[in-house]
Amino acid sequence: MTILVTGGAGFIGSNFVLDWLAQSAEPVVNLDALTYAGNLQNLAALQGKPAHVFVKGDIGDRALLDSLLATHRPRAVVHFAAESHVDRSIHGPGAFMKTNVEGTFTLLEAVRQHWAALDGDTKTAFRFHHVSTDEVYGSLAPDAPAFTETHPYEPNSPYSASKAASDHLVRAWHHTYGLPVVTTNCSNNYGPFHFPEKLIPLMIVNALAGKPLPVYGDGQQIRDWLYVGDHCSGIRAVLAGGRLGETYNIGGWNEKANLDIVKTVCALLDELQPSAAGPYARLITYVTDRPGHDRRYAIDARKIERELGWRPAETFETGIRKTVQWYLSHGDWVANVQSGGYKDWVAANYAAR
Ligand code: NAD
Ligand code: DAU
Repeated sequence: MTILVTGGAGFIGSNFVLDWLAQSAEPVVNLDALTYAGNLQNLAALQGKPAHVFVKGDIGDRALLDSLLATHRPRAVVHFAAESHVDRSIHGPGAFMKTNVEGTFTLLEAVRQHWAALDGDTKTAFRFHHVSTDEVYGSLAPDAPAFTETHPYEPNSPYSASKAASDHLVRAWHHTYGLPVVTTNCSNNYGPFHFPEKLIPLMIVNALAGKPLPVYGDGQQIRDWLYVGDHCSGIRAVLAGGRLGETYNIGGWNEKANLDIVKTVCALLDELQPSAAGPYARLITYVTDRPGHDRRYAIDARKIERELGWRPAETFETGIRKTVQWYLSHGDWVANVQSGGYKDWVAANYAAR
């Protein structure tokens, strides 16, 4: 038995592969294009382990997909590969359409052909697990109930529109062709290996470098935050026991305003690595808001708890402390990801704010 993971060198994918192989002997074939967000350093602990087979390649490459599926005959595909950063989707939506929409389409077609040729128990047990986001549901008013799985799709950014499109493709491949799919829609993750273009790792690395901490708009936008290890355990639960064709929300029951997140990071850094220049919160800088910025996301994760008994293991307090400690002890990882194109992105996104 083997599973095929796409995007397993990115933030969540690499955490998933590491967790999977820490808990199971079942091999993982890891297909990742190694875009700016993919990093083999995340998987260094698996070097020399035959249970991890890394393949550099694109989910849009049909011939490669056919050959991987024929060679490894996975019993499941867990699909993480995507362009994932909202601000990048505003600067350049093309890559999001290419990977998130066309790439998912190509993957679904290859997997459909593979699955159609299976028989008996192998065919019945096969799963395609699509990893998606709460952003497909749009933005909530301050007092609106949290997103359930039946909330209308109202994506507002090129990123969320591309993920919504991919969710629709997955749904259609189930309804039309019977492909055995499950989809999870998760809230904001944080934890080790998070690329420092996203809020929490950006604030940590900027603070340590004495650079401004750029808060978009008034900083009162609300997100639900989930420790990445809890997202991985939620995916494992849905892959193992989720009902076919169903979607499951995964969230941390942890809504917080961005400004509070930044202040919490600053307070932890003040405790763990104080700066001679004074409290890190002095670096907080309000900058021009993100166009079309969603005001609030909140996840109702009762379905996955009711059906599969899943709940997050970390609180925000335990998860964020672990995360800040991880960045403090992984300066080499940070320095490495900040080389190359990282500086160009920071200049493009923040220079005009
Ligand atoms: P990420 O940007 O850190 O990693 C994406 C990975 O996909 C990278 O390793 C990249 O090299 C790879 N990739 C990109 N295009 C590819 C292609 N065409 N073919 C093969 N590989 C390709 O993203 P992440 O934050 O780890 O998110 C993973 C998935 O989870 C995405 O589908 C995202 O939409 C979803 N998600 C993310 C969050 C979050 O908070 N980060 C929350 C909910 C859902
Ligand atoms: O909700 C799930 C989504 O969470 C995932 O689908 C996305 O892949 C993931 O990137 C994340 O999207 P967000 O846009 O919420 O994450 P980001 O870290 O970019 O921003 C979090 C909030 O912080 C958001 O309201 C914008 C704000 N922000 C972000 C950056 C990078 C700032 O105020 N300043 C910043 O410099």
